[in-house]
Amino acid sequence: MSGAGDHVDRITEALKTAMASLESAGDVESLRRVANEHTGKGSVLVGLKSALGSISDVEVRKATGRAINDAMQSLDALVAERLSHLERAAASVAAAGEAMDLTEHLSRRSRGHAHIVTQAWERLEDVFVGMGFKVAEGPEVETDFHNFTALNMPPNHPARSGFDTLFVKYGDAGSTLLRTHTSPVQIRVMQEWDLPIYAVMPGRVFRRDTPDATHMPVFHQIEGLVIDKGITFAHLAGTIEAFTKAFFGSDFTSRLRPNYFPFTEPSAEFDVRSSNGKWIELGGCGMVHPNVLRAGGVDPEVYTGFAFGFGIDRMAKERHDVADLRDMYANDLRFVRQF
Ligand code: PHE
Repeated sequence: MSGAGDHVDRITEALKTAMASLESAGDVESLRRVANEHTGKGSVLVGLKSALGSISDVEVRKATGRAINDAMQSLDALVAERLSHLERAAASVAAAGEAMDLTEHLSRRSRGHAHIVTQAWERLEDVFVGMGFKVAEGPEVETDFHNFTALNMPPNHPARSGFDTLFVKYGDAGSTLLRTHTSPVQIRVMQEWDLPIYAVMPGRVFRRDTPDATHMPVFHQIEGLVIDKGITFAHLAGTIEAFTKAFFGSDFTSRLRPNYFPFTEPSAEFDVRSSNGKWIELGGCGMVHPNVLRAGGVDPEVYTGFAFGFGIDRMAKERHDVADLRDMYANDLRFVRQF
């Protein structure tokens, strides 16, 4: 006697075995193979299905058929679930293999940075370019003419001795020198450029000085020159004030004190101060002397102008609160790395 119970037991048994092997299939390929073994032609379940006709009891046949269909459906569902699981796992393994490490390593120390004088130089240029000035540079080895004579200091002029000049053995004795200031570039710009002129001229200058906390024999200046029709002292004062606020900040102001330079008339010294600080002497300035305009090929009856010049090293020193100028040039990394 064979009831529905026997058939159902065999179906349940086949289902259990099939599920266990599907669960343990470790990759997509073996899953497909195992699925075919348990649900395809030649599988136990398909065999049972084709033998349904030999069950004579209609109720038993129906119940057995339903049980086989249910088992087949469970297995199909399990295959689909395992398949998507294995595919996802395979995709993430592949992605891990192709992944790139995009971590950015920031190590500012090993990169270095511009010297604080270069930083000041570049910021000064930026501020003046922003105000409409063009940048010019002249030679460090100059002629006596450009450094002195053209600047209204003819031979034997007493002001010459104020510049501790380093001469170069070239041409007639005393004719060639290391420029003592950037003012000779004024003459070169006047000779070479079309008018009007709005120029700044940064550069290295040289004086026969013993290094100490506030002096170096090699240092840097930035010169300014404006030549146009109708330029007055008010334009000079306004430019200095606008520069002071643009460079140092809006809480800074400037002042001019009478002074003497052979190449400007009238001449002044200019100082800057923050709203709560002391006055810092910055440089010299004035209206370009008619003799200087003439030396540069400019007609003083038609054009007037102003000029200014100041030390860049001094500004870097003040800005970073450096006590001794010599530290700025010793190239000691313990000092350099602070900025
Ligand atoms: N050349 C002057 C100096 O080195 C500064 C200066 C420049 C003064 C331009 C007036 C005008 O001291």
